[in-house]
Amino acid sequence: MSKHTKHIPCLITIFGATGDLSHRKLFPSLFHLFQQDNLDEHIAIIGIGRRDYTNEVFREQVKESIATHVKDTDQIDEFMEHVYYFKHDVSDEQSYHALLDFSNELDSKYQLKGNRLFYLAMAPQFFGVISDYLKSSGLTETNGFKRLVIEKPFGSDLKSAEQLNSQLRQSFKEEEIYRIDHYLGKDMVQNIEVLRFANAMFEPLWNNKYISNIQVTSSEVLGVEDRGGYYESSGALKDMVQNHMLQMVALLAMEAPISLKSEDIRAEKVKVLKSLRQLKPEEVRQNFVRGQYDEGHINDIKVKAYRDEDRVAEDSNTPTFVSGRLTIDNFRWAGVPFYIRTGKRMKSKTIQVVVEFKEVPLNLYYQTDKLLDSNLLVINIQPNEGLSLHLNAKKNIQGIDTEPVQLSYAMGAQDKMNTVDAYENLLFDCLKGDATNFTHWEELKSTWKFVDVIQEEWTMNEPNFPNYESGTNGPLESDLLLSRDGNHWWDDIQ
Ligand code: BG6
Repeated sequence: MSKHTKHIPCLITIFGATGDLSHRKLFPSLFHLFQQDNLDEHIAIIGIGRRDYTNEVFREQVKESIATHVKDTDQIDEFMEHVYYFKHDVSDEQSYHALLDFSNELDSKYQLKGNRLFYLAMAPQFFGVISDYLKSSGLTETNGFKRLVIEKPFGSDLKSAEQLNSQLRQSFKEEEIYRIDHYLGKDMVQNIEVLRFANAMFEPLWNNKYISNIQVTSSEVLGVEDRGGYYESSGALKDMVQNHMLQMVALLAMEAPISLKSEDIRAEKVKVLKSLRQLKPEEVRQNFVRGQYDEGHINDIKVKAYRDEDRVAEDSNTPTFVSGRLTIDNFRWAGVPFYIRTGKRMKSKTIQVVVEFKEVPLNLYYQTDKLLDSNLLVINIQPNEGLSLHLNAKKNIQGIDTEPVQLSYAMGAQDKMNTVDAYENLLFDCLKGDATNFTHWEELKSTWKFVDVIQEEWTMNEPNFPNYESGTNGPLESDLLLSRDGNHWWDDIQ
């Protein structure tokens, strides 16, 4: 028996355990959970890969990665006693039978009660085949729970996502499938809901009567790095908008759930995604802007153009930047634009939400030489975590001039030590069987449907790329998208 009820015995099998994601995120997160006493002795981890490693060699590598990502490595040797390597060919059915024997062996050694979590940190073409073999080999026939955790991309359009989903559903039920969107594991993304529904002061204003527009930005300084191969077939629209950006919009726009149960929260998110106004092909140009980075300077260092990156076509039309104007057709949001923006090789690494409120009905005051600033609620998701409220206050005793003032909350270093990464939150949720912060099939269906129209239109019309210099805020058209509505991006605001 576990010491604490919060401990859930489980065998965690990671497919793709020698890959980058496993080393950078999964093992450090699992270790941190162990160190924080969220995992105990009733846990075993099988790392699966194609290479001919021994347990010792694999454990050394994992240990090294953990040491790179977690400052305090106290208890690392105890943790490593739970980690195993299993050489396996994912397309060979026989190999799954050997995996089953090994899983049963670990199950009795660590008393795991037949609970199995399969984590697919693999290229997407293997998702279906692994899931099929897990069932046919008997690995999913267990007395405990069985769960499948799956990384993105989940399909490359609605049709392929539907095919993949039906294939997975042959072996796992919807409630056993945990589709990762790592943004949903970020503390401040989870805070959007709390901020909205645990404070009496925001909800009454959170609608088209008081909000002028909402801006969601996720900009990166990094380029495509060594992922050119994957990125060429994806681009910013499928890599970021279809999942992370629309998930943040759903959290910002949803109605209050009737309870904190996963199904109640997700039902509200689904409603928002269903009320996203589907664009007609001829409306795409007016509402969405695509961009691709050219060479430029970042921190005074010259960086190359996207088309010169590794495994990227010289004449590639893949967008590395997208901004868009979304309309949510429901009572609360009619008339309020939601602007989203994401791109690589931009000026700064920022994930941020800016809620801009409407002007006061009758403005009696002025800032020197200009009109009052809008009230803003800024939610800083990364790298700074916290929020700020931008208000207008009286400047000095004489006169009626105002000046902007800011109320800020920054999450302290102490709070941040609780997790090493969003993955830690998500892995723990998954062990607990809490699917709230994972993408439900209904959400995916709506987001693909929305994104497919844009992608189809873009495929039919050649862009004029590259169209933004590295180290900037993207193409000029992205600014025009807002200025046409009389708005502007709130850049450089905290
Ligand atoms: C991933 C994308 O989902 O998110 C990457 O595939 C992107 O291209 C990354 O760099 C950004 O994540 P974060 O957490 O750094 O904003």
